[in-house]
Amino acid sequence: MMTSRIIGTGSFVPTKTVSNFDLSELVDTNNDWIVERTGIVNRRIAQTDSTVSLAVKAALAAIENASIKPDEIDLIIVATFTPDNAMPNTACEVQKAIGAYHAFCFDLNAACSGFIYALQTAHVYLKSGMSQTALVIGAETISRIIDWKDRSTCILFGDGAGAVIVKQDSHGIIDILSGSDGSKGEFLTQPYAHLTTPFSNSDSSSILPYLKMDGQEIFKFAVRKVPETILTLTTRANITPTQIQHYLLHQANKRIIHAVAKRLQVKEECFSMNLEKYGNTSAASIPILLDELNRMGKLKEKEYLIFSGFGGGLTWGTILLQW
Ligand code: UT7
Repeated sequence: MMTSRIIGTGSFVPTKTVSNFDLSELVDTNNDWIVERTGIVNRRIAQTDSTVSLAVKAALAAIENASIKPDEIDLIIVATFTPDNAMPNTACEVQKAIGAYHAFCFDLNAACSGFIYALQTAHVYLKSGMSQTALVIGAETISRIIDWKDRSTCILFGDGAGAVIVKQDSHGIIDILSGSDGSKGEFLTQPYAHLTTPFSNSDSSSILPYLKMDGQEIFKFAVRKVPETILTLTTRANITPTQIQHYLLHQANKRIIHAVAKRLQVKEECFSMNLEKYGNTSAASIPILLDELNRMGKLKEKEYLIFSGFGGGLTWGTILLQW
């Protein structure tokens, strides 16, 4: 049976490294607290890069890795909650920059689950035959919507982009389980800065466009939802969690990843991590991690992989695939 398969990966992070020690000069925090509670040591912060420029660099790396030409791409999806502009969308900007003239292009926002939702969407287009070659990108410049005076959030996030090329193949994505719970949206928010109009009766001038999070609620949600979706997918595929060679979870917190490993009774070594270097890069975290593993030669054909994302919305999504 035909499915879709990742045939190339790429990623790009800004060059500027900001350490925990750097942040302790901005807010009342310290390296020990951040490392112990999150596992994060450094993060990359955009100085001249934008969400588009990060996405373009990741895309070009993925195109090269897949040995395809940009004009073969007929679908570009960018997952981001930090686009540079509302219009044109990020995916159209990427199309222009890389010369993917035959693609149709849109952005998708599912916060930290964005890459999973985007890959799922591309998979459906490829399976239906409406697309032949998809470019799926997760790209964020979260540093621009952070309140750099809020120690509970500013230590967590980083900027970056990861990309994959996906094509029809006889093996690849096996199963997907995504979901949303809008009733718990208030746990992770970032409002737009609204312009006032001459006709508006409400005063939105006090609404600040910063990311706000109830960390403990998101933590509990992740530790419950991620194992639940993984177990559903492995059961449906008639395999056990120990048969998965590589777990690539959204890189939010090492304690979440360790708690998931424990619940699944799988060795922590099977859970790849790079959050110590980049922090939480939202929709970019899974494709950046995937690209690092791919380029290190750690992924062997036909091995089982799990991708799992969770975040604002609330949203979640897990993909079981064979490399
Ligand atoms: O990508 C979207 C998904 N996001 C996530 O998955 C995030 C999930 N949540 C988390 O990772 C964790 O909840 C955090 C890392 C955000 C926070 O860790 P926590 O263990 O839940 O800490 P807490 O919020 O309960 O705070 C504990 C204490 C508080 O002090 P008191 O009230 O006990 O005196 C905080 O004020 O730590 C304090 N605190 C800090 N101290 C030093 C909060 N932030 C900091 C900080 N440095 N940066």
